[in-house]
Amino acid sequence: MQRITKPEQAEVFIAEQVREVQLQVGEKKVLLALSGGVDSSVVAALLIKALGKQLVCVHVNHGLMRKGESEQVIEVFQGQMDANLIYVDAVDRFLNKLTGVDDPEEKRKVIGAEFIRVFEEEARKLDEIDYLAQGTIYPDILESGAVKAHHNVGGLPEDLQFELVEPVKLLFKDEVRVVGTALGLPDSMVFRQPFPGPGLGVRCLGAITRDRLEALRESDAILREEFDAAGLTQEIWQFFTVVPDFRTTGVRNDKRVYDWPVFVRAVNTVDAMVADVPEISWVVLKRITDRILDEVPGVCRVLYDLSPKPPATIEWE
Ligand code: XMP
Repeated sequence: MQRITKPEQAEVFIAEQVREVQLQVGEKKVLLALSGGVDSSVVAALLIKALGKQLVCVHVNHGLMRKGESEQVIEVFQGQMDANLIYVDAVDRFLNKLTGVDDPEEKRKVIGAEFIRVFEEEARKLDEIDYLAQGTIYPDILESGAVKAHHNVGGLPEDLQFELVEPVKLLFKDEVRVVGTALGLPDSMVFRQPFPGPGLGVRCLGAITRDRLEALRESDAILREEFDAAGLTQEIWQFFTVVPDFRTTGVRNDKRVYDWPVFVRAVNTVDAMVADVPEISWVVLKRITDRILDEVPGVCRVLYDLSPKPPATIEWE
């Protein structure tokens, strides 16, 4: 198959897939877990084109999304594309389940299992769903054999097994992006940096607390704004902040405080197996530091992580 690198090729692919999906699905309904990540967003846009309201998108807000992400999913898919979108506010549910869970792998398990449970409940509320759409892409098939691991819907119970619709399963990530742009998705969705399935959950170290999670979300939003303003967003592969579960001393308004540090992480890599830390201008780092210290309650220190992978991993847990 010819690789998709140009808009004209994307148009041909879209027209073919629209026809194929319409043939496969007919008048039936299709369910999609729409996280707002590149792959599920492109599948949603493609299926909306092919099936309109026969596609039912479920967006689960687990409280571990970055600032503005759930809002963007609603704005783009409900506001602009008139999708059949079910928004599930599961923030309390996830955070309650995660209370006191401090082991990183256990946190991942709790988040994955709860996601399946919420999605299953939504699927059971709907009648006559015969198909499940997934944003499986070619590397997922090469790496994991079939089901997209971090989509987390592969673990649905026996009586909820649907026939799969996977329109981008033969594409590589760069091709999915070309298709997404041709479908009219915004650059901020199509050219997003990778974001782990457990979201901010693995960047709020140890047992997640709401106040530290909020400090994480706000500091991450500031980092993204400042990297955007400095033209670094397209240049750096992945960047984010991390909030640990210990405090350090500081001083504010002549009073001693005991607040959290925030770590800034930025890496360049080709395959995420080895990664380098880019040299960021001092001016940019200073601006990010000043803004986080000014604007994020409970934070009195900002540090830049200089560790390459290996020996450090990209994420902190
Ligand atoms: P590490 O920290 O292992 O990360 O150097 C390599 C890449 O994988 C992402 N990552 C995850 N993605 N679920 C995911 O979907 C996870 O549990 C997970 N853990 C790490 C990480 O963001 C980086 O891009």
